[in-house]
Amino acid sequence: MEPRKRHVFLLWMLVCAGSTQAIEPISTSIAVGMAAALTGFLASYQNIFYYFHECCRPEWISFNSSGLKVDLEQKLFGQHIASRIVLKALTGFMNNAQPKKPLVLSLHGSTGTGKNFVSQIIAENIYKEGMDSSFVHVFTSELHFPHASKIDTYKSQLQQWIKGNVTNCGRSMFIFDEMDKMHPGLIDSIKPYLEYYDKVDGVCYRKAIFIFLSNAGGESITQIALDFWRAGQDRQTIDLKDLEVPLSLSVFNNKQSGLWHTSLIDKNLVDYFVPFLPLEHKHIVQCALAEMEAKGMVKNHEVADQLARDLVYFPKAERVFSVKGCKTIESKLDYYT
Ligand SMILES: Nc1ncnc2c1ncn2[C@@H]1O[C@H](COP(=O)(O)OP(=O)(O)OP(=O)(O)O)[C@@H](O)[C@H]1O
Ligand SMILES: [Mg+2]
Repeated sequence: MEPRKRHVFLLWMLVCAGSTQAIEPISTSIAVGMAAALTGFLASYQNIFYYFHECCRPEWISFNSSGLKVDLEQKLFGQHIASRIVLKALTGFMNNAQPKKPLVLSLHGSTGTGKNFVSQIIAENIYKEGMDSSFVHVFTSELHFPHASKIDTYKSQLQQWIKGNVTNCGRSMFIFDEMDKMHPGLIDSIKPYLEYYDKVDGVCYRKAIFIFLSNAGGESITQIALDFWRAGQDRQTIDLKDLEVPLSLSVFNNKQSGLWHTSLIDKNLVDYFVPFLPLEHKHIVQCALAEMEAKGMVKNHEVADQLARDLVYFPKAERVFSVKGCKTIESKLDYYT
């Protein structure tokens, strides 16, 4: 018997049991009380189910804009531009009840500067389950689409996957990692979902979030950061407008990433390009301290400083930026403690 029918049956049994003893007022009131309690339970039954099982409802998906702001300020180091754009983009989009298109962010920067980390922070401030949410989907080019010969299969799989997930929950998030290594044909296949269409095949994609991660443009971002450093200018004074042109030029001219960007940029499908700056020694120290805290260790500044000093920096003579950003800190920490 279906759960709903079973409950109706139980309720009916209870009421009937009460009615046969109508001459006994005490039993009758107990029966009526139980029936009322059961009816109340049934009414809240669905809510209890939703409470324990993740579903596409505000109990599980709700944007915490102050949480996002605090996380970006306190957990993300050295990325004042990315931090500002991400907060602005997400706040605007999530507070808009009728967005005209899905939100499309393209995160660029060299390795270990925090691109996946920011995606994680975003997910945690929208989905109660964060990256573990069944509404957050991560695709990694070389893992999910490794063979160029299977591109047609991948295309239809990817389209079905996106469609199925957005049908299931409009507020779905798709993260495409290593976007610069993705086959251009695959990018083409997702383009319809990023557009200003009201609906594609009866499905509305306008509340979905797409995040593309890549190293494309990382070198030009680094060059600008280095120019500022050499000119003795504070890193905080680097503005988005200082990076926009060199970033888009280097992305367009990059043989690997040129194609996808050209097609996406041409149609204005990417809402925000988010540059990630290379990280300096002081940021590595911050990462090491944060990692100690995450591991439940007492924060040790000397160890953090030593660890940071032992990393490889570039340019060789000046040792300004960490080659791997904060990427290897977690594993290195075991060695230093
Ligand atoms: N700017 C940052 N602030 C704080 N922590 C950071 C930052 N950048 C990186 N980290 C730490 O280093 C780890 C690795 O960074 P992440 O995976 O985000 O790098 P990425 O930019 O995606 O690199 P890649 O291009 O190699 O994929 C993160 O999980 C985080 O702990
Ligand atoms: Mg990454």
